[in-house]
Amino acid sequence: MKENIKNIDFYYFSGTGNTLLVVKKMKEVFEDNGITVTLFPIEKSDPSQVNLQHVIGLAFPVAVQGTYPFVWDFIKSLPQTENTKIFMVDTLQKFSGGVVGNIKKIVKNKGCEPIGAKEIKMSNNFLPESIDEDKIDEIIRKGQEEAAEFAQDILHNRAEWKRVPVISDIFSFFSKKNFIWNMMRKAGSWQLDEEKCIKCYLCERMCPIHNIKMNEYPEFLGKCTFCMRCISFCPQRAIFLPDKDFVQYRAVKAEELLEKH
Ligand SMILES: Cc1cc2nc3c(=O)[nH]c(=O)nc-3n(C[C@H](O)[C@H](O)[C@H](O)COP(=O)(O)O)c2cc1C
Repeated sequence: MKENIKNIDFYYFSGTGNTLLVVKKMKEVFEDNGITVTLFPIEKSDPSQVNLQHVIGLAFPVAVQGTYPFVWDFIKSLPQTENTKIFMVDTLQKFSGGVVGNIKKIVKNKGCEPIGAKEIKMSNNFLPESIDEDKIDEIIRKGQEEAAEFAQDILHNRAEWKRVPVISDIFSFFSKKNFIWNMMRKAGSWQLDEEKCIKCYLCERMCPIHNIKMNEYPEFLGKCTFCMRCISFCPQRAIFLPDKDFVQYRAVKAEELLEKH
């Protein structure tokens, strides 16, 4: 049976574009079926303003077996409701233990009706040492294909949202906790090569959590959650991690992550 959906408000975060490509593909399928889809970047959205009459979509990358703290905060701050339909999709390199099950628990406790969850494999964006363009194109093509299928599954009321209670709670525990992000920051934080920096402000504009302050040069304020935007999009490769060789990974242009959809 076909779901009777008229409006979808799709809240997403994408560090380097993988998730945005999935979201855009799903939007295309929904719109082909006469649904009005509005995209909202999570980093610029207020969860208390979510329209509970519309279907809510959530999309984000997996990070440390969970997702970024500001994405958790957004989901945890959604208002109480009665039977608002909700679905989620995440993108990941290999494996996530904690998001699907744990988010189901959170949204159910809010009174939402979970209508489907999907994890879609995309390329690794965490400091890859090399990049094989053909392989990446193929992964993206498959990812977008799966995104289109998932959108069809939602439309035809056959999507699933599974939950493995104990495992997902254990895994999600870590990415929600400050200590894990502090450990990552201690292991290595981004540095700036002032000779390369052209003070273009792109890193400051892209940082979803306002962790970059523009003084004479960009300054990192110490709450980075490694979403990879600044380091991946710096046009001068002026942002780096000491002793780590990497290739900048980006699946879309910087403007696409900054523009309104
Ligand atoms: C800090 C960080 C942690 C990550 N942790 C995981 C992980 O636990 N499991 C996994 O499969 N992929 C992990 N990834 C890979 C991303 O989830 C994947 O590349 C994702 O598609 C990136 O989406 P985006 O381009 O929309 O930011 C991680 C990436 C980053 C930057």
